[in-house]
Amino acid sequence: MMPKVHFVEDYERHVAELMASHPLDEAMSLAVGGQYDEFGKLMTDIIASLGVRDGMSLVDLGCGSGRLAKYLGLRFHDLSYIGIDIVQALLDYAQKQCPAHFRFIKHQGVSIPLESESTDVVVAFSVFTHLLHEETYLYMSEARRVIAPGGKLIFSFLEFGAPHHWSIFEGTVATRKQNAHYPLNLFIEQPVIRLWVDKLDFKIESIGPCPLGQSLAVLTRI
Ligand SMILES: C[S@@+](CC[C@H](N)C(=O)[O-])C[C@H]1O[C@@H](n2cnc3c(N)ncnc32)[C@H](O)[C@@H]1O
Repeated sequence: MMPKVHFVEDYERHVAELMASHPLDEAMSLAVGGQYDEFGKLMTDIIASLGVRDGMSLVDLGCGSGRLAKYLGLRFHDLSYIGIDIVQALLDYAQKQCPAHFRFIKHQGVSIPLESESTDVVVAFSVFTHLLHEETYLYMSEARRVIAPGGKLIFSFLEFGAPHHWSIFEGTVATRKQNAHYPLNLFIEQPVIRLWVDKLDFKIESIGPCPLGQSLAVLTRI
């Protein structure tokens, strides 16, 4: 049998441990970083301020337990939404929080299982933080393929250049010291993102701090 890739192994274990030790709602919130309702509303406000509106199509890469999807469903009544994640238990929970027309797909490859130029927006909140750079680059290149010209890729990331991200790095170091299992935390510096943007033919609309705590990159697909 093929060994599981690091993100599948880490996240399946992480979610199973949380489900075994917490009530379901709490486990599903912790699995995506906590503050389920507060962050769901905040992410929806951010996305709306960036131009997402009814009638558009949006792909939520690494949608988790539906923290964003739930509030998108409450705010938009004609949004074509597809959530993609690697853990079935998260997707099952997410589906229950959302309108029936929201679609959820389990997919464990470093690709986006959708047609080219089939969506207006791809979002990835707190997902590239858990991937190796080559995996993030592959997802960005897949996002470039599935986003229609003029559409947007919006993603959050951790960077050493942001002083308030240091405590996250310290926490990761402490976890490593104890040899405890935890999903990877990888930082991406802005010059690296700028290089990838050039290589993949995106344009940067904005990049920098956002109220979520992580930094936010907003790119347009040329
Ligand atoms: C910190 S959570 C964030 C979830 C969601 N985006 C949110 O902000 O509520 C990271 C999510 O990414 C998913 N994930 C990790 N690696 C992934 C990959 N290679 N492809 C898609 N999703 C992935 C995890 O299962 C988890 O649901």
